Amino acid sequence: MNVLYEVRGHVALLTISRPEALNALNTDTLKDLEQVLNQAEADENVYVLVITGAGKAFVAGADISQMKDFTAVEARAFGEYGNSVFAKIENSAKPVIAAVNGYALGGGCELSMACDIRLAGTKAKFGQPEVGLGITPGFGGTQRLPRLVGASKAKELILTAGTIGAEEAARIGLVSRVLPDEELLDAALELADKIASNAQIAVRQSKAAISNGTQVDIQTGLAYEVQAFAVCFATEDQKDAMTAFVNKDKLNGFKNR
Ligand code: CAA
Repeated sequence: MNVLYEVRGHVALLTISRPEALNALNTDTLKDLEQVLNQAEADENVYVLVITGAGKAFVAGADISQMKDFTAVEARAFGEYGNSVFAKIENSAKPVIAAVNGYALGGGCELSMACDIRLAGTKAKFGQPEVGLGITPGFGGTQRLPRLVGASKAKELILTAGTIGAEEAARIGLVSRVLPDEELLDAALELADKIASNAQIAVRQSKAAISNGTQVDIQTGLAYEVQAFAVCFATEDQKDAMTAFVNKDKLNGFKNR
């Protein structure tokens, strides 16, 4: 098993663990990732996911040894499979945080970009080195990177095959925060707990409205938002929280229904 899975409270911690290859994503590792993502999605006790890497890398890319002799047909299948696994993260109702602890190159940078929030340790390095290997990014880099940092910066990074450090990644908006390496995982778990302490129906509606809304024109996006807003008024959480506020009571947690 190349992806470790652990549930702490309402948070699932997924650790990509193939340190001998800097956690490079081969088909087996993608399958393991898909399996634990399915497990986290199905577990009603899990509200938030955190993905990190074992050792000195987050993920150093798709597995170059496996891809070396691919035909175009095999490459298409591999790209489609990787994209389908990452789509599970993006389309999950539950928020997913990437705790980027080291190299996030190629497929690793792409994995982090499929997550909802990226935190980086100071040693993290981001980049899309594919054109230096004679290929394009294949797990979403040409699409998610420009949406996150703009076309100019995305083209600069992808066309040069360059690598940037954590501070530069934060400066261009690729990550939300940079933390000392030894504090990264705790900070990601703390962030996850904070999200888990809120009303989960509202959290999930908010994730979906943002994710779906950023892919469409603003009028369509606002229509998603108003629908999400309305749905929340059919929940006990909304009634409980607003009643408590008005009565100056302290709300003792959400029922998430
Ligand atoms: N695929 C397969 N194996 C990899 C790998 C990868 N992406 N990245 C690292 N490894 C392996 C190395 O081959 C090495 O194995 P051996 O010990 O058996 O030789 C082991 O991991 C340790 O790596 P290094 O000795 O190279 O470690 P380093 O500290 O000297 O260098 C590094 C670290 C700069 C990240 C370097 O490993 C590197 O450049 N890796 C490749 C990064 C890359 O190009 N990623 C993009 C892949 S293409 C892609 O991802 C396509 C896509 O979009 C789907």
